[in-house]
Amino acid sequence: MATARGGFSSRLGFILAAAGSAVGLGNIWGFPTQTATNGGAAFVLVYLILAFCLAYPAFMAELLIGRYGQANAVTSLQKMSRTAWQKNFAFIVGFGGIICAALILSFYGILAGWMMSYAVQPAAQLIGMESLSVWAISDSTARNVIFTTLFMVLTVLIIRKGVEQGIETWSKRLMPLMIGLLVILIVYVLTLDGAMEGLSAYLKPDLSRIFEPELLISALGQAFFSLSLGTSVMVIYGSYIAKKENLVTLGAQVTLIDVSIAFLAGLLIIPAMYVAQSQGVAIFAGDGSLISGPGMVFDVLPKLFDGMGFIGLFIGLAFFILMSLAALTSSISMLEGPVSYAVERHNIARPKAATIIGLVILLMSIGIISNIDVMLDGVATLATEYGQPIIAMLVCVFVGWIWHRNEILNEIKSGNENVEASLFWNLWPWYTKFVCPLAIAMVFIHSLKLF
Ligand code: PHE
Repeated sequence: MATARGGFSSRLGFILAAAGSAVGLGNIWGFPTQTATNGGAAFVLVYLILAFCLAYPAFMAELLIGRYGQANAVTSLQKMSRTAWQKNFAFIVGFGGIICAALILSFYGILAGWMMSYAVQPAAQLIGMESLSVWAISDSTARNVIFTTLFMVLTVLIIRKGVEQGIETWSKRLMPLMIGLLVILIVYVLTLDGAMEGLSAYLKPDLSRIFEPELLISALGQAFFSLSLGTSVMVIYGSYIAKKENLVTLGAQVTLIDVSIAFLAGLLIIPAMYVAQSQGVAIFAGDGSLISGPGMVFDVLPKLFDGMGFIGLFIGLAFFILMSLAALTSSISMLEGPVSYAVERHNIARPKAATIIGLVILLMSIGIISNIDVMLDGVATLATEYGQPIIAMLVCVFVGWIWHRNEILNEIKSGNENVEASLFWNLWPWYTKFVCPLAIAMVFIHSLKLF
């Protein structure tokens, strides 16, 4: 069934690849961090609602565009356009998504490099390479450049191999490994002293915070980042799905996996923080909130692993390998956006396109590393708080207002004959036309603090 341009060879292949893109540092690091700073379970609750009510419909829009267009984001959107201005608009939205993916990869690669370096630290200690172990977590520019480069090389090597042998094969290998590691770590951490206190902090909602604007904005941003929306990634993955597949179910399954893994990651990280506390590690910042962000992953957790003695080396190693794998299955999807564009629109051979684009993005990462204090946050904010919501909103506008309803129906019907009578078809078109763009715009404008 794989076509000349490549495609996923099976349903499972797509599910694991799309879930691989969706599940990343956003789930295992971002989600627990946001939960910690936004009132625990109150955030989890809002996140779940927004993920299914807003992010899932937008996710479906991207998958459908791709499968209809059978091409990269720009070409796919242009196939739905009829007039010249629509084609230009299609270019802006499609290309904007591709740029957004490249920007995200440029900072994501640095974070992933940190994860790899923190995995090398216990590994080096285990084999007695003390100085490597110290250097790996030294926070130096050289360390950052080397590990970011290593991570980018892995990403490029997979994408050079194409959809079936690269993305699909590696997602099938890495995803089960990652989920297995996650479950083992959760089971282990939950047996330790202090874990139950963490569990209740994670699961008991502070309902008074549910309508806080900050919480809503963070939850929506987190849901969009987690489903890789507004980056052209799901359009291109959608284009590799066979016409016989039922997109509505596939999309729901991927959303469910994504949300569940974020939830599971919270079950690991928040209790782990409280275990660290019971071992004397400070887990609250000066203002009484749980330490989050880099401090949580690179300070509190390593201290916890340290406190466990010899077994801590293995737990630390497993944890940071887990993080690195999650990052890798996401980064390949980010690179696939620009690469598929270069291959299909400019006729560049895939291996060459992957290498050149990977190199350009690596240079961007090195630029960020050279002024990391300002640039890392700046690029992340630009891409995830501005780029992603704007592009995702424009994609919904495209589907809701430009794409013909009959064409949409035909596309959804392929692989799902009875969809016309379903709840999905009764709700989703209106949803994408009005609710999604408006809700995204409101949250976005709000985040600019304009009202
Ligand atoms: N969804 C990924 C995560 O949660 C990040 C990502 C964003 C991947 C955009 C692809 C595109 O980490």
